[in-house]
Amino acid sequence: MRSRLFLAPILACLAFAPLTTTALFAHGDVQPQPIDTTGLDPLKEGEWLPENPYVGNKRAIEIGASGYNQNCARCHGLEAISGGLAPDLRYLELGKAGDEWFLDRIRHGSKKPDGSTMMPGFEGVINQEAMWAIRAYLVTLHQE
Ligand code: HEC
Repeated sequence: MRSRLFLAPILACLAFAPLTTTALFAHGDVQPQPIDTTGLDPLKEGEWLPENPYVGNKRAIEIGASGYNQNCARCHGLEAISGGLAPDLRYLELGKAGDEWFLDRIRHGSKKPDGSTMMPGFEGVINQEAMWAIRAYLVTLHQE
C-alpha cells in the first residue's frame, strides 16, 4: 500500500509530461511555413548565390510577398513596415552588399550574446529560391 501511494504521483507525472510539452510547443512560437516556389528557375541545393537571381521577377515577387507574410511579418511587420519589434526591412541596402547581409540573416537568424534567439534561422525550413523570392519582394518596398 505504501509503495503504491508513493508511485502514484510519479506515474501521473510521466503520463502527463508528454501532453504538457506538446501543449507548450503548440502555444509557443508560430511554426515557420514552407513556401511553394514552383515557377521559379530552380537553384542548386547547397550552392549559395552571392546575389539575388530574381530581382524584378514578377513570379518571385508574388511568392516572396506570401512567404514574407507567413514567416516574417509577425516580427518585421506587414508590408515590411516595422512596428519596432525587429528592424524595418524596407531600409535594407540594395544590391550585392544588401543581398549578402540578407542571405546571412535569413539562413542563420540572430542570437543574443546569452544564446537566446532574436530571429530564427530559416535554412532547412525554406529553400534558397524562397529566400531570394522574399528578398525580391522586399526590394520592391525599398526606402532610402
Ligand atoms: C521572431 C521574430 C523574427 C522573425 C520571425 C524574423 N525575424 Fe528577422 N530579425 C528579427 C530581429 C529581432 C532582428 C534583429 C537581430 C539583431 O539585431 O541581431 C532581425 C534581423 C533581420 C535582418 C537584418 C536586418 C538589419 O537591418 O540588419 C534581416 C535581413 C531579417 N531579419 C530578415 C528576416 C526575414 C526575411 C524573415 C522571414 C523569413 C525574418 N527576418 C523573420 C526578428 C525576426
